Amino acid sequence: MNRSKEINYLNSIALHQPFGIVGVSGETGIGKTTVLNFVNPEGVFTMRVNISLRDSMESILYDLLHSLAFALERVEGVSGFAKEVRKWITDEVATIKGFSLGVSFGVNAGLTHEKSIRPRFNFFKAREKLGELIKQTVQRKGKFLLIIDELDKEKKEDVLRVIDSIKNFIITGNFVVILSLPFSIYREYAADRLRWNESGNLENIFKDIVFVEPLKKSEIKELIVKRLGHRIELVEDGVLDIVAEFSDGNPRDGLWILTKAIYDNIQKERLGKENLINTINKTIIEYT
Ligand SMILES: Nc1ncnc2c1ncn2[C@@H]1O[C@H](COP(=O)(O)OP(=O)(O)OP(=O)(O)O)[C@@H](O)[C@H]1O
Ligand SMILES: [Mg+2]
Repeated sequence: MNRSKEINYLNSIALHQPFGIVGVSGETGIGKTTVLNFVNPEGVFTMRVNISLRDSMESILYDLLHSLAFALERVEGVSGFAKEVRKWITDEVATIKGFSLGVSFGVNAGLTHEKSIRPRFNFFKAREKLGELIKQTVQRKGKFLLIIDELDKEKKEDVLRVIDSIKNFIITGNFVVILSLPFSIYREYAADRLRWNESGNLENIFKDIVFVEPLKKSEIKELIVKRLGHRIELVEDGVLDIVAEFSDGNPRDGLWILTKAIYDNIQKERLGKENLINTINKTIIEYT
């Protein structure tokens, strides 16, 4: 693991900060999701949601609201409102999808031409409902930590726009958000360069950004030893040093190249250094 520093820091933010949004950033595969999975501040009501970024700002907000409502449906005292919210989203989406597919739900029948405009996501209403859902949860549960892990990294600008446009609804007492962010955003944040709208930069949104750094070579080796378990015998001495070197501190890259080498040499009894080097060379040719 070797991420206790980051985990402890995030736990303590969740515990002691009265409100706000905190980012967790780092290159892909470095371990952001892994760190988030271990954040669990004692006595703080914690929920985790994933958002997968789709085509628009609206759908990011809908996705977030839907995931949160779904999770809160099982929470006593909030479940009534959560169900209501989820039903609202489901109906909205059905109407919009139905419309675009040419399905009539009857509600549109009889509308005059000008009224039968294409239905649109109701961003403003969705944002209000999100705020209300948070408020009710805080009332019921006290301090509330929401951990949002985003899956797709393409639309970073859109994530920030959504967060910015809903921040007045989510920056509220006793509510802390931890959000994973692509590395590029951190870089721009650090350089204070990202002026993605007139009102300012990332500092207006995030209270702090925690950077998940590459691991040490020894930590990569340790992590792989743990992962391999007794199968470590199938790997020759020195192989892990090369894997660690190749990984450059990125656990996913390390695990990936080792797995690849194992499959390239599946017929062999043990994986030797030369086998791994061959796989690395082959991979470098493939990817450059
Ligand atoms: N500290 C760690 N100890 C053990 N395994 C780890 C650690 N960090 C990451 N890993 C492993 O490395 C891989 C990548 O980690 P993870 O998914 O957390 O990265 P990420 O930064 O969230 O990536 P992405 O940018 O794609 O979301 C996973 O297989 C995970 O199990
Ligand atoms: Mg991740």
